[in-house]
Amino acid sequence: MTDLSKAGTFTLGDRSVNRMGYGAMQLAGPGVFGPPKDRPQALAVLREAVASGVNHIDTSDFYGPFVVNQLIREALHPYPDGLTIVTKVGAVRGADASWNPAQSPAELTSAVHDNLRNLGVDVLDVVNLRITGAVHAPSEASIAERFEALAALQGQGLIRHLGLSNVTSAQVAEARGIAPVVCVQNHYNLVHRADDALLNELDEAGIAYVPFFPLGGFSPLQSQALSDAAASLGATPMQVALAWLLQRAPNILLIPGTSSLAHLRENLAAAELALPEDALALLDEIGG
Ligand SMILES: NC(=O)c1ccc[n+]([C@@H]2O[C@H](COP(=O)([O-])OP(=O)(O)OC[C@H]3O[C@@H](n4cnc5c(N)ncnc54)[C@H](OP(=O)(O)O)[C@@H]3O)[C@@H](O)[C@H]2O)c1
Repeated sequence: MTDLSKAGTFTLGDRSVNRMGYGAMQLAGPGVFGPPKDRPQALAVLREAVASGVNHIDTSDFYGPFVVNQLIREALHPYPDGLTIVTKVGAVRGADASWNPAQSPAELTSAVHDNLRNLGVDVLDVVNLRITGAVHAPSEASIAERFEALAALQGQGLIRHLGLSNVTSAQVAEARGIAPVVCVQNHYNLVHRADDALLNELDEAGIAYVPFFPLGGFSPLQSQALSDAAASLGATPMQVALAWLLQRAPNILLIPGTSSLAHLRENLAAAELALPEDALALLDEIGG
């Protein structure tokens, strides 16, 4: 079995997590909507992830909606000590599967209560405020009122730690003026590196950077250099893409998403893959 500790740990507030985690979004039905295609396998993926040492799971009530949090609860409750579940708020799903902003203080409060109920906990470990906007072009608007609403819920003891998603450097600075930020979850991978400066800034500040779409999301990464590096190392392209992220910066936490046990095992094994300097140099050129 893969030794996830080979990839190291990072601290989210008072919670230590392995840098190799798991993103649960793929467990919902097609279009991240409705029940999973294979419910027993969805439950098995969650149980095997945790049995393999994953202690950081990323989720949201947007996924399904509610379906993924309910699967997590069914598969893993009562939760093992040391498991950190990170959820996010800021949107609701329409009956037509649309994603709609829900960012008023009242909507954020209601989302936090929904997450508490669906996950079956009294306190949420980490809640990310997901700012609405295209994943490649976060909005520049002030997030103060929204983050203050979550900070108030943290003050009431409903949330341990706060994070942000789909944000700019200025928005991170604005939020940190209101309450501590333990993680930022933005779009980043081997090919999409618009966040390089923000990632470095957060590394210096001791804040986790959690790339979403680490494997390319709905269009998994493809590149000749990636395939060549994988062939030369006896690994798969997806493992090399994850190992590259682990080596990119020590504050990167991985949450690759999959609904497949085979892919879960393949992805977790990347925790033990060390990329030599020559492979890193070739891979660095992909997103350059
Ligand atoms: N904050 C945000 O706005 C935001 C946005 C998107 C995602 N997220 C979070 O980030 C997590 C990761 O993102 P993601 O799941 O969208 O994208 P991802 O991890 O980049 O890629 C997932 C896709 O790759 C496939 N895949 C996974 N492992 C594979 C492997 N070893 N070989 C081949 N294909 C593989 C999956 O299909 P299979 O199911 O068939 O393996 C799925 O189609 C999500 O689960 C979610 O928790 C957050």
